[in-house]
Amino acid sequence: MTLKEKCPILQFADLGDERGKLVVIEGGQAIPFDIKRVFYIYDSDSTVVRGQHANRESEFVLINVAGKSKVRITDGREEYIVELNKPMMGVYLPKMIWKDMYDFSSDSVLLVLASTHYDGKEYIRNYDEYLDAMKKYELVEE
Ligand code: TYD
Repeated sequence: MTLKEKCPILQFADLGDERGKLVVIEGGQAIPFDIKRVFYIYDSDSTVVRGQHANRESEFVLINVAGKSKVRITDGREEYIVELNKPMMGVYLPKMIWKDMYDFSSDSVLLVLASTHYDGKEYIRNYDEYLDAMKKYELVEE
């Protein structure tokens, strides 16, 4: 599977009408996991790089519900960059994907849906350690 297939862009249905837009994301339906946690990042700016980690357990969907930001996604082999700039669009990140979020517009609100409760121990924050962990992970996966 290519990285883009592993981390697909998701388009959510627009249930809006003349009163405005409405976007619904149901766990296990529009996204491939049940949602256990929601957090959002705002008041970052174009000088900030966030993320810079991979997660051993968590899956995420990232959505810019306002403004825009970019996500650099890698599995240690391939890399791709997604601009999140529409409330109806998200990107799915499975376990063990390294991501950097950056280029936040001043009005950016980056909503993150997660498959787990927070556990700092499942984070890999060192890129070399991540590459080592990926070698083992890919052996198990294949
Ligand atoms: P961090 O992982 O550095 O944020 P980002 O991925 O956006 O760069 O998290 C910042 C702080 O918030 C850090 O001390 C851990 C804490 N935190 C929680 O307590 N719960 C959470 O769900 C998240 C995402 C972070």
